[in-house]
Amino acid sequence: MKKTVLVSGGAGFIGSHVTVELIQSGYDVIIADDFSNCDRTNYNGVCQITGRQLPLVEMDFCDIAAVRKLFIDNKIDAVIHFAAFKAVGESVSDPLKYYTNNLGSFLNVLQMAREQGCNVLFSSSATVYGEPEELPVTENSPRQPATSAYGNTKQMCEDFLRDCVAAYPGVRGIALRYFNPIGAHPSALIGELPRGVPNNLVPFITQTAIGKRECLSIFGNDYPTEDGTCKRDYIDIVDLAKAHVCAVARMLDDRMEQPYEIFNIGTGRPLSVLELVNAFEKVNGIKLNWKFAPRRAGDVVAIWADPSLANEKLGWKAERSTEETLAAAWAWEKRLAGKQ
Ligand code: UFG
Repeated sequence: MKKTVLVSGGAGFIGSHVTVELIQSGYDVIIADDFSNCDRTNYNGVCQITGRQLPLVEMDFCDIAAVRKLFIDNKIDAVIHFAAFKAVGESVSDPLKYYTNNLGSFLNVLQMAREQGCNVLFSSSATVYGEPEELPVTENSPRQPATSAYGNTKQMCEDFLRDCVAAYPGVRGIALRYFNPIGAHPSALIGELPRGVPNNLVPFITQTAIGKRECLSIFGNDYPTEDGTCKRDYIDIVDLAKAHVCAVARMLDDRMEQPYEIFNIGTGRPLSVLELVNAFEKVNGIKLNWKFAPRRAGDVVAIWADPSLANEKLGWKAERSTEETLAAAWAWEKRLAGKQ
């Protein structure tokens, strides 16, 4: 019997790529999204890639009656929870918006997991490590106090999951700590669709390359790194999506070693902002308009993953090269612009 995975926020950047990989691995998927932070482009793209009209429930995960109805009407084997706000700066200026939505929706997921007995996969973030004292970071590296409400919700949701798993016998959970997800599906049918001015580096690069933005600002060139710019672990979105399939299979096939597990999802290869910009220019044959600008408040200097636990226990490994990923990001931007 096919297992059914509920993907909250399944029309978003990560959710849509995860849905494709789940379908292609033989799972049934129900997408739930309220379209508060995305349009239907990715949902339509997922249907096109998979050749299926996927079940879509338009709903707000903070609405417990709607969440309960969804769980009662369907036999859900696992839920992957993406439905959350993600703009770090906005979370500092409007923390209640983040606490209400990101915590409220996840508490509803946990309530239903308790009532119906279901596995929970939570999308966490490397942001929980703050500015790490040792690199690369392992899952045992200490979490640092969050510097934004967004970061705080990631830590709190991890703790909610840990405590519910410990207390309620039917609930098992995995938290995946993503490093920096970038890129797009090789079909260029789904990808990142930031609203307004992008906060993140790669969408800003592609929008500058296409002419939507005049110039990329590289935030800070006086950091204590080789070239003075920050270092990150950029993980391809399709690779990242595949990690979810491995984690879901681990839960559903009863292969978890503990009822609550955490995995870093990254490449283990750090790249500086300048290295990433240079790689984008080279692989796509584009001269990008960029300048150095002052540091951005809240940025950590350097962080990258030790992904060996995920490699070993999930049987997952990042496979795509940075070049492939940056070519896919550019193909997606061009498609959005109607140029290809
Ligand atoms: N950067 C620029 N110019 C830009 C955008 C970003 O130079 O226009 C730099 C940043 O300063 C940083 C690097 O590119 O050094 C990566 O920045 P992103 O905004 O793409 O990613 P972050 O590492 O800041 O963000 C990630 C996740 C968030 C998470 C955050 C926590 O995307 O979800 O880490 O710090 F909350």
